[in-house]
Amino acid sequence: MNEVKNNNIILRVENLTKLFGTKKTLAREMLKKGHDKEEILKHTGVTVAVNNVSFEVERGKVFVLIGLSGSGKSTVVRCINMLQPPTSGKIYFEGQDVESFSKSELLDYRRNKVSMVFQSFGLMSHRNVLNNVAFGLEIRGVKKSEREERAMEMISMVGLKGWEYSDISSLSGGMRQRVGIARALANNPDILLMDEPFSALDPLVRQDMQFELLSIQEKLNKTVIFITHDINEAFKLGDTVAIMRDGKIIQIDTPEGMSSNPADDYVRNFINSADKAQIYCVRSIMQTPTCLVRTRDGANHALKQMKINGVSSAFVVAEKMQFVGILTLENALKVRAGELAYQNAFIRDLPTTTPETHIADLIPIAAEASFPIAVVDENNQLSGIVTKASVLASLI
Ligand SMILES: Nc1ncnc2c1ncn2[C@@H]1O[C@H](COP(=O)(O)OP(=O)(O)O)[C@@H](O)[C@H]1O
Ligand SMILES: [Mg+2]
Repeated sequence: MNEVKNNNIILRVENLTKLFGTKKTLAREMLKKGHDKEEILKHTGVTVAVNNVSFEVERGKVFVLIGLSGSGKSTVVRCINMLQPPTSGKIYFEGQDVESFSKSELLDYRRNKVSMVFQSFGLMSHRNVLNNVAFGLEIRGVKKSEREERAMEMISMVGLKGWEYSDISSLSGGMRQRVGIARALANNPDILLMDEPFSALDPLVRQDMQFELLSIQEKLNKTVIFITHDINEAFKLGDTVAIMRDGKIIQIDTPEGMSSNPADDYVRNFINSADKAQIYCVRSIMQTPTCLVRTRDGANHALKQMKINGVSSAFVVAEKMQFVGILTLENALKVRAGELAYQNAFIRDLPTTTPETHIADLIPIAAEASFPIAVVDENNQLSGIVTKASVLASLI
């Protein structure tokens, strides 16, 4: 069937269909006639979880499956590792039909070829970090010293060195997910299957984890099949992205290709609706101001602060941290030379923003701003600053 065999394809899914329910024959006939998922469910009680899905995953690449909840992503994953047999269609791992595996081959496939990382972490709370990571090796019968050495290596790989003997309960969500990844990596699988692994994490922790995953992937050159419902995550991580709707794949492309050439309105809306700037607020990108001076301080103090912090302007605040304006290096020098009064040296009436402002709404202000923008609360107290660079970086 395939004219050209690409040896770089580690996994191939061919016309995968998965139906849930008893009247499958009837459902299949309706599918053939082009009825949709909803009609079929209504008429037959059968759920079309996956509908004639085909794709190929290249070795060493990140393949992302994205779609709304219920679109069939997890079912595809469960068919890949044979937790659920396909209703029809084939899955080939390195050219071998995974359904034809014997019991022991299947066990080997699940333990050594594909490793799963879940959203819910699936860690054992009565074991410490080290013993969680080493668990897979333990059930494989790897001897203690060897499995602990390997586990230690993976713990350090995910940035948890020093936490080996900590209880799982003492870790944050982000750290637990790192443990989950280390555990999956400890088996040295060919493919990491990750089903919405970061969905439960805070946006900032999530960004850290995405970065971590990319650097691990680069170091170990793993193949990753990553499931998400977040288009930003999909575009950030995926070499290839497949978008699912009602059990079907409606487009497979690179992030670039999909953005510039969406297959239909559904894909276009999906991409637009998840514009980062619409989702993230100033709070997620604001920083602590490094150089603060008070209205009662003098120019010499301000100059010293600028020098210590290596900046050429300072944020000026009143007694209770109310934002007043900015003092530039130039003006501070003029004050010291007696050419300008300290109180008149501040640039006032600068644009400000609030922690709750959407980044999208800040873009026009940031584009015009000559200085970092002050983030103030309802009492005009300075809570942080945003730089033009951080606004732009959040959009990438
Ligand atoms: N074991 C099951 N029995 C019946 N229906 C199921 C089962 N698993 C999934 N489904 C249905 O299949 C569809 C796809 O589910 P799922 O693969 O979990 O989607 P996703 O992971 O994209 O949220 C949904 O309509 C879901 O209700
Ligand atoms: Mg799911």
